[in-house]
Amino acid sequence: MAFMGLSISSPSYLLFGMVVLWLLSSPAFSADPDPLQDFCVADLNAPISVNGFPCKPITNVTSDDFFFDGFIKAGNTTNTFGVNLTAGNVLAFPGLNTLGISMNRVDFAPGGLNPPHSHPRASESGVVIEGKLLVGFVTTGNVFFSKVLTAGQMFVIPNGLVHFQLNVGKGKALAFTAFNSQLPGAVVLPSTLFASSPSIPDEVLTKGFQIDDDVVKSIRSKFGF
Ligand code: GLV
Ligand code: MN
Repeated sequence: MAFMGLSISSPSYLLFGMVVLWLLSSPAFSADPDPLQDFCVADLNAPISVNGFPCKPITNVTSDDFFFDGFIKAGNTTNTFGVNLTAGNVLAFPGLNTLGISMNRVDFAPGGLNPPHSHPRASESGVVIEGKLLVGFVTTGNVFFSKVLTAGQMFVIPNGLVHFQLNVGKGKALAFTAFNSQLPGAVVLPSTLFASSPSIPDEVLTKGFQIDDDVVKSIRSKFGF
């Protein structure tokens, strides 16, 4: 049998098949790995560190390990961006350990912005519970996708892409987001670039953004740097 001029037994065809199989099985193309047991409640105080957290001894596991009440209260949105993220990741909810999922509660003051950021280890989906949010993300090809959503509407942000949510309604807003990682991580562009420790050299920022030194200083000062 031949495909695009290649015989199925030709070395090129076999090599192509091996590359496809390798790509499909490579962890780089999936989110958190699948668990190898029913659960593994994180022992956040374990003295050793692994890719995730070691499990608590099963005899110490209780019902409470599988429930989380951290989303009951609205977060305090009195801050620069008018937003508060309450993370329901493995650090707050150890029962998530090895399960490859987590959630956030996101509260917005009127006009509040969850600033442009990305999650290095997860795709994100979200649902608006209250208010009106402009949700947007930019692809690696610089294409901007966005939509204004109201209660009950859902969105998805593909893995690693820069995205934001802006409260464009009259009152406060609330959304819940979900991730295919127990610890998705967040690279928040304003603070990553202008409030790192130690600071990124000024020249990188002035050249990178084509701005003057005083603009860099002014942005840094807004973050207390
Ligand atoms: C929203 O973008 C979130 O990361 O929870
Ligand atoms: Mn996000």
